[in-house]
Amino acid sequence: LKRVRTHHLREMKQRSEKFTMLTAYEQYAAQTFDEAGIDVLLVGDSASNNVFANETSLPVTVDELIPLVRAVTRSVRRSLVVADLPFGSYQASPEQAYLTAVRFMKEANAHAVKLEGGLPMVPQVRKLTEGGIPVMAHIGFTPQSEHNLGGYRVQGRGDAAAQVIEEAQALEAAGAFAVVMEMVPGDVAAQVTKSVDIPTIGIGAGVDCDGQVLVWQDAFGLRTGRMAKFVKQYADLHGELLRAAQEYAADVKGGTFPGPEHTF
Ligand code: KIV
Ligand code: NA
Repeated sequence: LKRVRTHHLREMKQRSEKFTMLTAYEQYAAQTFDEAGIDVLLVGDSASNNVFANETSLPVTVDELIPLVRAVTRSVRRSLVVADLPFGSYQASPEQAYLTAVRFMKEANAHAVKLEGGLPMVPQVRKLTEGGIPVMAHIGFTPQSEHNLGGYRVQGRGDAAAQVIEEAQALEAAGAFAVVMEMVPGDVAAQVTKSVDIPTIGIGAGVDCDGQVLVWQDAFGLRTGRMAKFVKQYADLHGELLRAAQEYAADVKGGTFPGPEHTF
């Protein structure tokens, strides 16, 4: 069982072989996705929403994310584990980005980090890469900038398409090993994918990206409520967990659990 490395993703792109990424924030999901052969696990700053119950990704801190990344890296045998750098922990300067990324590498054994942004983040990507830290970039809709972008909106439509291509190329030149594209029209994402040698990873960016990523609680139905158009639901874990909890409660209240077989 060979560990997935950043060069493997590039080789898969060269072979036109798709690869997979899911978020993971703790042991059992990480172990299960690793066992399923998911190539990349992202400890996303979406833990802000999905673990810490914030409304946006903005409030989550480095100190909150580090224990989650540590749990995930301890839980995998094959998957590449990418740690998301949270809002405010890297934008100020390349030095700030480097010091934050080093914490994820040293304290949590991350295999790579991810950060959001296009041209303004090129110095950060270069600094990290030159300092030995693999960087995954993230362009298109970037949730940490949702207030600047005016909410959840598709990016790169019309004239803005050329800008997305320019960003991806600049991030590649700066040393990024892959680039996530979020909520970009499928034809634009296809053009970007052809315009760079590094793999592209889509979320709401169509089928022509080299890889795909989803937030697992969305894809597997642990979270309920309104879902983005790009989410496909593969399971109803909320329904299953609800049923189990209700059945347990009914058993306890009705005196049928524990039974003799559960009793010393
Ligand atoms: O934090 C996250 O979950 C992400 C992915 C959806 C790309 O950044
Ligand atoms: Na993120």
